[in-house]
Parts: sequence; structure tokens; C-alpha cells
Amino acid sequence: MAEDFDVKMESKVYYPDPSIKETVRMGDYEAVYNEFIQDPQAYWEKVANELKWMQKWDKVMEWDHPYARWFVNSKLNITQNCLDRHVHNGKKNKVAIIWVGDGGEERVFTYRQLYREVMRCANGLKSMGVKKGDAVCIYMPLVPEQIILTLACARIGAIHSIVFAGFGTQALNSRIKDSNAKIVVTADATIRRGKRVELKAIVEEAVVNAPSVEKIVVLRRMTPPMELYSEMEVDYHEMLSDIPECGPEVMDAEDPLFILYTSGTTGPAKGIVHTCGGYMVGAYYSTRNVFDLRDNDVFWCTADPGWITGHSYIIYGPLLNGGTVLITESTPDYPDAGVWWSIIDEFDVTIFYTAPTAIRMFMRMGADWPNKYDLGSLRLLGSVGEPLNPEAFEWYYHVIGKERCPIVDTWWQTETGMHMITTMAGQPMKPGFIGKSLPGVVADVVDKNGVPVPAGTGGFLVIKEPWPSMMRTVHNNDERYRQYWTTIGKYYTAGDLAVKDDDGYIMILGRSDDVIIVAGHNIGSAEVESALVSNAAVAEAAVIGKPHPLKGEILKAFVILRVGYTPSEKLKSELIYHVRMSLGPIAMPSEIDFVDSLPKTRSGKIMRRVLRAKELGMDPGDVSTLED
Ligand code: PRX
Repeated sequence: MAEDFDVKMESKVYYPDPSIKETVRMGDYEAVYNEFIQDPQAYWEKVANELKWMQKWDKVMEWDHPYARWFVNSKLNITQNCLDRHVHNGKKNKVAIIWVGDGGEERVFTYRQLYREVMRCANGLKSMGVKKGDAVCIYMPLVPEQIILTLACARIGAIHSIVFAGFGTQALNSRIKDSNAKIVVTADATIRRGKRVELKAIVEEAVVNAPSVEKIVVLRRMTPPMELYSEMEVDYHEMLSDIPECGPEVMDAEDPLFILYTSGTTGPAKGIVHTCGGYMVGAYYSTRNVFDLRDNDVFWCTADPGWITGHSYIIYGPLLNGGTVLITESTPDYPDAGVWWSIIDEFDVTIFYTAPTAIRMFMRMGADWPNKYDLGSLRLLGSVGEPLNPEAFEWYYHVIGKERCPIVDTWWQTETGMHMITTMAGQPMKPGFIGKSLPGVVADVVDKNGVPVPAGTGGFLVIKEPWPSMMRTVHNNDERYRQYWTTIGKYYTAGDLAVKDDDGYIMILGRSDDVIIVAGHNIGSAEVESALVSNAAVAEAAVIGKPHPLKGEILKAFVILRVGYTPSEKLKSELIYHVRMSLGPIAMPSEIDFVDSLPKTRSGKIMRRVLRAKELGMDPGDVSTLED
């Protein structure tokens, strides 16, 4: 693991127009940060007081390392804050969701309409026997029903576990089993680039050997409607109740709101557990201040609710703030590479939040595409998920933002629930650097003993103090949760390598573990390796990340075949297909090498670091533990 190495850091600085600093909510970053650091609990209490609670807390926070309880003994329902509050406060007819389909179709929901749909769905779930504390797995395309279902679960206190619809059978099966889901909700299909991509067929396979599942609810979008065969299958519209009212379940602040799986360093994906009260405060606060979300904004986050970005910045954050969100099932290059810019133009999108991979892809397609459209409505741009390299920053800033829009490069994780580090709008921006801690967060770069490293020296990114939307545990694996807080001193270890400059701006250098970030998605080496080994031809496999100009990293697999199998191009394709079917397209290796042996420690652990160094022609570092 790399540490204490010097990093060359020169960066341009962009000074935003002073008017931005004066108009955004947190223009005076230093003053707000000082207010926070002087009394962190009072700071968060003030934020929480902006929301509606059924019963307020006895204490803002209780910290028994590594366990935190926020807003102790308070009661709430997050959907009251996402829906009722706006419906009853003059925003009934304000647009909550604008949906654009793959073929340009449109659906619009006002807050009133969304409220009614969520209530009908919540009553429908109840009629199927779903109760507070039950888990519901949502495996859906990016359609409004995905959001409606999520909120319906929250309304009745069911724990939602959204699984990105790009995952394959094995990944879905393990998530259903780990969460003990009672109901799985899916759709017949999703539409990608004009083509139908089956989803229900994947669910049918994934529920085999998942005894907790009682029913599969299917949203049938296609004509003619797909037949529902088994006793277990229920039509989504038939499940909906006619009654558009459903009282909010009383939730303790520390009751779980959702489980979301993220790839781990070893073994299967980790079920990150977030709770009702703290998560609500974090999602509300960060959306409001990092994006400076206002009443007349049209906010477009291009993620899918299957990722934490979609949970916090498509669903909860914007709706908690009474905002208007745009979502689309469309891909960025279909029917042509101008489709996203045309959406910004057509709907007057004001805030656009996307991933560096998408920005790099657009860069490659050229400025002519965005230049065909009027992007004058944009006022703020965001980036998330992987390092925004300076070239991509420059393109985003000049070509899309026309040098007017601040860029917030937001660093955070599934585990953190909300943005943790960024350059707040109005502050000087440094391409390549994410920036500083949000007020409310204490981030630092330290050595392996927890001692802060000097500027220019690489180290580990840690968060030193608890924050409201921190994960509370790893589902079924609390020991894994404890590791986050016990690896480097008593700090939360993010698993990223980072460096600070003289002004305290942080730059992310990459992961310090075996998580690989492909096109902004976390992929665990171990998960892909076990998918490969589940193929009859494979004896052993090791997977590494390899730098890629567009996707940040791609997956390369080294495979030892079982006796009786011969390396061939056909076998490579078969193995790639096998991973695609079990884990999904995002986890497919781009390259496979057949090898006779793998570098291992004497205790038999594969040293992926050595493979990676060899692949990239770099020094493998300390190899004293290498077996041979
Ligand atoms: O390595 C960091 C990278 O994504 C990891 C978290 O992944 P995930 O839990 O899937 O959440 C992604 C969306 C929040 C981090 O440990 N990462 C996230 N944002 C950035 C980033 N790397 C560099 N810059 C970012 N802005």
C-alpha cells in the first residue's frame, strides 16, 4: 500500500465571478466552517430544525466509538419531509419529477401527483403484507415508478434495497438473499438505445434459492403485456390501491431506511445500512448547500437510483428541498451525441451533475455537439464518482459551463451518504483537486498511524469525526463496519489515497485497496474473480484495474485454466459472457490473459499489486512476502 510518497502538484486556479460568492448560500465558506467547528452539534441541530419531526431529539448525538446515534429518540418519516411538507405548503402544483424516455417520451409529476402515487403504492405494498422492517428489493429501470416505490417503502417503514438494473443474476441473487427481501419489484424490460432489454427474466433466475421472496411485482410497460405465469407474480398496477392517502409510519431516527450494496475489497458486496434521521439531514443539507438548490431550479443528476448518488441526489435530497428533478432513461449517445445537451436546452436545466467518464466521452465526440444547443440555463455543474482529471475539468468548465458555471467536484461514498469534500460554489477552483471538507465534515490526509501528512505528501484519506448520514453498520457483518473506524487510529478510513496542497485543497489519487472504479462504478476484484471461478473452465483468477483514457480504469483478468481446457479467443469470449450474465455488463473484464501461475503471498493471498505493477511496467514495491 502506497504511503508517504511525494506528489507533484501544480494547478491552475479559476477564480469565480464575485457575484457567485455573494448570491450562493455558502459563499462565505470560511465563516460557515468556523461556525461548524466551534460547536458541531449545535451546527447540525440548526440544520435538523429546518425539517419536520414528529418528535424532536433528547440529544443531537451520542458517540460510542465506532457507533453513533444521531437525533437520539426523535421520531420522523422522511416522506413527510419529501412530500407532505410541500403539498401542504403551497407547492402542490410544483413539478417534482420530469421523466424523459429513451425515445424522447415525457412524463411529469407535480408534488400532488407524486404524493398520491406514493400513497397508492404504499397501501398496495401493505396489502401484500409488507410491514415496517421488511426488506423490499427494487430492481427497476429508471422510470418514475422506481422513485415512487422507494418512497412508498419509506412511507410504511419498509427497508428498500435498490439494485441497479445493470446487475446480472448472481449479483442480484446475493443481494436479495443478504437483505432477506420479502418482495422483489421489477419491470418487464428497460429500453436502451431503442432496444428492449429484458429484466424480469433476470429476476426469475435470481429468486431461485432465495426463500425469503414471497412475491415478485412486475411493472409491465411493453405491449402486448408480458404474461405473468407463477402464483408469485403480481402486476404493479393491480397492486396499487385506489386510496391516495396513507399515514406515515412513525420511525425512530435510528431505524434503518435502506440497505445499498457496494463492492468490497474481499468477498461479496457489502450491504451499507443508512438510517432515517441522520441520512435525511445529510441528504437535505448537502443538496441545499453544495448545489445551492433553489425553487426555480431544474436539477438533473445523471446517475441511477441504483447507486448512492441516485438515492441522495435524485430522490431524497432534491425532494426534501422541494426541488424539481429531471430523470431520463436515455443513454448519452442515442439517437446521437447531442441528446443530453438537447434535454438541457429543452427543459432549461439549471444544475447538471454527472460523472467524469461521461464528460470524457463527450470530449471525445467534440464540442460541435453541445455547441448546437443553448446551454444558457445552466448555472452550476457537478461531478462525482471518480477523479475529474484537469483536461476533463477544463472542457466541462469552458465548453459546457461557458466559464460562467462553478464546478463542484464532489467526493463522497455509499458509506458516507452525502457529499463530504468539494469546492463550494464561489470558492477558487483548482482543476484536479476536489477541494476541502464541507462545513459539518472533518476530513484529513494522514499516514498509517493517523498523523496528518505535510502538504505534497501522499497519505490516506480519513474522516475524523462522525457525521449524521454516516452508515450505521454493514448488514450481517458488523465486524466489517468496525474495520472502517479501527484501521487508522480512531478515524473513519475511506480507502482512498490523497494529497493536500498548501491551501488545504485535497486531491484524490486513487483507491488504496482492491476496489476498481470503472466508469465511476465500484467493482470489487474479489467479486469478479469469484464469478470467473464459478465457470467450469477456471481454476483461479486475479483481477486488476488498468488505466483507461475514457473509463478511468478497465478490468483485466489473469486466469489459470483447469486441466483439460486450452486457451483460445473463443474461451476468452465465453468467460467474458459468463461474467456479464452473472454480475452484469459493468463488471465485464475488458482483457483476459491465460497464465500458469499467479503471484501469491506465502499464506496464499493473490498479490494483485504485483500483477498491476508488471502490467503497467512499474516497480512492484515490497515483494518480500511473495511466495516465489
Ligand atoms: O474512490 C472514491 C471514488 O468513489 C469511491 C466511492 O464509490 P461509491 O461508494 O460507489 O460512491 C460513488 C458516488 C459517491 C470513493 O472512495 N470517488 C467518489 N467521488 C469522487 C471519487 N474519486 C475522486 N473524485 C470524486 N469526486
